[in-house]
This record gives sequence, C-alpha cells and structure tokens, in this order.
Amino acid sequence: MTFDGIGRACPYSSAGSNPVGVTVAHSTGAGAHPTGACGRSTGRAAACGAPPERAGFDAVATLLIVHHTPSPNCQAMFEAVVQGATAPEIEGVRVVRRAALAATASDVLAADGYLLGTPANLGYMSGALKHFFDQVYYPCLDTTRGRPFAYYVHGGNDVTGAVRAIEALTTGLGWRSAAEPVTVTGEPGKADVEACWELGATTAAGLMG
Ligand SMILES: Cc1cc2nc3c(=O)[nH]c(=O)nc-3n(C[C@H](O)[C@H](O)[C@H](O)COP(=O)(O)O)c2cc1C
Repeated sequence: MTFDGIGRACPYSSAGSNPVGVTVAHSTGAGAHPTGACGRSTGRAAACGAPPERAGFDAVATLLIVHHTPSPNCQAMFEAVVQGATAPEIEGVRVVRRAALAATASDVLAADGYLLGTPANLGYMSGALKHFFDQVYYPCLDTTRGRPFAYYVHGGNDVTGAVRAIEALTTGLGWRSAAEPVTVTGEPGKADVEACWELGATTAAGLMG
C-alpha cells in the first residue's frame, strides 16, 4: 500500500496535503517476532494501550517515544509528534510513550524504533533525557544497534549543543536516523507543529510492514 499523503489526515496542515512519501505494506498480523524471544513486541499486548497509545493483535512493531516535556511549548511539539505517530493510516505500529525519567532499558529493548524529545538546557539535552541515556546505554548497546530513531528539540535560542549531544549518544548506540530532527526555538508556529506531526508519522510509518 502506498501512502500518497499520510498528511491528508494531519490536523495542522493548511494545504490539506502533507505527503510523507513513504511506501508501506499492510500488516499481516502474523507478527515479526511471534515467539517474543528476542524481547521485541509480539503484538500480543492488546490490553495495554489506552488512546493515543494504539495496540492490538495487528501490532507488529513498537515505536517508543521518550520525552521530557516541562512546558507548554514542549507539550505542543510532543502532542503533534504523538498525533502523527498514531495517525489512522499507520497500521501495525504500537506507540508507547514514556517520560524520560520513567523510561527503562526494558522499554528500549522491547521497541523497534525510537522517537526522542527534549528541551535544550545549558547547551545540552535535558538532564532527564541524559538520565535516560545513562540508564539504558550499556544494557541496550549492541542489542539495539541499527534500529531507527528520530528526535525533536525545543529551545529558547540555541539548540546546537543539545543536537550535538543527541547525535553523539545515538551514534554511540549505533542507531540509524529515520528522519531529520525537528528543532524549534520560542513558541512553535504552525509549520513547526506540522513538522512535528510529520516527524511522528514518518518515524512510525518506517516501522510498518
Ligand atoms: C536552566 C535552563 C537552561 C536552558 N538552556 C538553554 C540552552 O542552552 N539553549 C536554549 O536554546 N534554551 C535553553 N533554555 C530554554 C529551554 O530550552 C526552554 O525553557 C524549554 O525548551 C521550554 O521552552 P519554553 O520555556 O519556551 O516553554 C534553558 C532553560 C533553562 C531553565
């Protein structure tokens, strides 16, 4: 199935079309990891997802969103990312949200891809997201190598240090970029929120099929 415009469902798109431009396949429901032996999602956790986390017997991949959201501007970006990742057109992807201080290595090992969100603080990622990496780095090193990730950063005036830090950590883990990061300073505008929606949709769509 080819999406010629996932973004047609994007509530932020003024143009009414916001193509993600990905080719995806319907889930067979067979499950990529039917035994669960690898520690990834089997799609059998149907009971665990109240909206907007979506789960069901069709779920064959898990997108883990790890975020630190300390303000309304960060919240706006986070909500748009979640809405994009849980767009109805995206099938067979379970979206799990975790606050950075609550996310565990088990969450990371059980996921197939990652979406990270943080404010820029003191020229770095937030202490909360840094804590997340501190907790999961070695337990997840090697096992999660090659998995896709994306991220967004909100700042007051300069997110360079936060971006550099996230790039360094994810390079160390061997994760591969699934989408260009979204960075915003100040109050997110309509285009910024739309970019966050696309970030969520693109990252989740990459796990389909
Ligand atoms: C202690 C502290 C350090 C910060 N350092 C940076 C920074 O290095 N770069 C930046 O762009 N913003 C920085 N900020 C701004 C935060 O990124 C911003 O407050 C956060 O993204 C939330 O956005 P909001 O306050 O506009 O809602 C800092 C904020 C605090 C409280």
